[in-house]
Amino acid sequence: MNEEASIKARVWRGSREGTFHEYRVPRHPSQTVLDVVTYIQRALEPRLAYRYACRVGMCGSCAMSVNGVPRWTCRTHVDKVARDDALEIAPLRNLPVIRDLVTDMSEFFDKWARAEGRFAGERTRKDEFARVRPDSAARKAVDAGIECIGCGVCYSACDVVKWNPDYLGPAALNRAWTLVQDERDVAGAARLRAVAGDAGCHACHTHMSCTERCPKSISPTASIAGLKRAVGKAALEGKL
Ligand code: SF4
Ligand code: SF4
Ligand code: FES
Repeated sequence: MNEEASIKARVWRGSREGTFHEYRVPRHPSQTVLDVVTYIQRALEPRLAYRYACRVGMCGSCAMSVNGVPRWTCRTHVDKVARDDALEIAPLRNLPVIRDLVTDMSEFFDKWARAEGRFAGERTRKDEFARVRPDSAARKAVDAGIECIGCGVCYSACDVVKWNPDYLGPAALNRAWTLVQDERDVAGAARLRAVAGDAGCHACHTHMSCTERCPKSISPTASIAGLKRAVGKAALEGKL
């Protein structure tokens, strides 16, 4: 293979114990990191385990650590992240590794449940649709956080998750905030109680790594700040 037109990819193989294996992959214009991993799996190492579905930034399943930074690999161009024509591709940090580049996302989504990250409405299908004004402050707060694709990039970027594995983390707390702001939701008090504990919003150190890394330009940091205010207000009013 022409070394000029190739990239050196060091890819994590194994689970908790493992090592980086090196592969040479041909370069292409507009090539993504997911293209590199897919080439390796199809042409060089069929046993390589990785995960993706949509390839267009919708499903959130392709996140990996690329040269030490968590990213959605289907929308990350090699040209932008390669250093000296090399990539180091590893599973997301802060999550158990099942095999190779595949992490176990159970605890990530379990924390959404712990944060009461489910909509709780009171209307039935016989009722009128609820109408939320698009220009209301609450609607704008929801819109700012609602496009989360559950990729885990923020969770992997967060040092507080690393220090305190019980911490609910930026994505679950962002989800909780969108529901706290949702005028149709009726579980606000229970949700605030769920995020008020030691592993909840007050554990956030406002490092901003989640916000810097989120591929959907969401600011979990701002959502968590909103939760801190809402929890404080509810506590003062004796509603927690
Ligand atoms: S702002 Fe909070 S949630 Fe986001 S990375 Fe920092 S500590 Fe984690
Ligand atoms: S908040 Fe952003 S980085 Fe975190 S899971 Fe959602 S889309 Fe991914
Ligand atoms: S494969 Fe779906 S977001 Fe990347």
